[in-house]
Amino acid sequence: MNPNKALWEKGDFTEIAALMRQSGEAVVRSLGLTTPLRVLDLGCGDGTTAIPLAQLGAEVVGIDIAKNLVDAGNKRAAAAGLIRLNFQEGDACNLEGIGDDSFDLTLSVFGAMFAPKPFDVAREMVRVTKPGGRIVMGNWIPNDPTSFVSQLLKISSSFTPPPPEGFVSPMTWGVESHIVERFGQAGVPREKISMVADTFYFISPDKSPTQLIESFRRFYGPTMNAFEAAEKNGKVEELHRQLVELANAQNKSTGGSSSIPATFLRVTVSL
Ligand SMILES: C[S@@+](CC[C@H](N)C(=O)[O-])C[C@H]1O[C@@H](n2cnc3c(N)ncnc32)[C@H](O)[C@@H]1O
Repeated sequence: MNPNKALWEKGDFTEIAALMRQSGEAVVRSLGLTTPLRVLDLGCGDGTTAIPLAQLGAEVVGIDIAKNLVDAGNKRAAAAGLIRLNFQEGDACNLEGIGDDSFDLTLSVFGAMFAPKPFDVAREMVRVTKPGGRIVMGNWIPNDPTSFVSQLLKISSSFTPPPPEGFVSPMTWGVESHIVERFGQAGVPREKISMVADTFYFISPDKSPTQLIESFRRFYGPTMNAFEAAEKNGKVEELHRQLVELANAQNKSTGGSSSIPATFLRVTVSL
């Protein structure tokens, strides 16, 4: 089994995505879209951004490597009556079956950054986007204390065995030099790429930060793996303590609810 696919089919990311809906909608609103528009949402999960894109009138294809999330997305689209939104399985490293110059916009919010071959991902995003179109990526930023998920992943990976040789950290998509190099190899000059720090919120009206961490522990592949590894060497309590401390320190809400800001790098490539 492809380990990239296995990681994201593990658990149930829809439980985490439920915390991301408001910011997903805000990202889509901020794109200033005018229809008609064909959009690819790459690494779309169950539709945090694909659904609001379709609600704005775009024709949307959501591609994700995890079958369970594609199924969940198609269910949500049907329930919302969105007939111009279709979720399908695919790998951001190789968008076979998708023609060149197919989309006005390729959006990937914390999605394509997790694919294992970043140069292939950049090339494929450029290939399927029309000249004159845009690629917009949201990427977590490594070693940024205000980038909640990047900190959560950093803690999680410090409890997990080292990755196989040749593994490229997804966090490198939050570093300017890597972004410029990857799109450069795909034929995009530096001046066509802009990067700006932005903020995403993980919001729950009825879950405390401790309960949020419980959701990550039960449903989010990378954190599930960390807890499995920690169990083997008696470090579960330490891992749990560090994650709860992080979530509590970053929470802006009170009274048993959560609103945790997370800085991310918003990358826009104009083709
Ligand atoms: C953190 S989730 C974000 C999901 C969604 N964009 C959202 O904002 O709710 C990462 C998503 O990327 C998907 N993904 C990871 N590697 C992928 C790949 N190689 N190709 C396509 N999707 C991938 C995962 O299955 C998962 O749905």
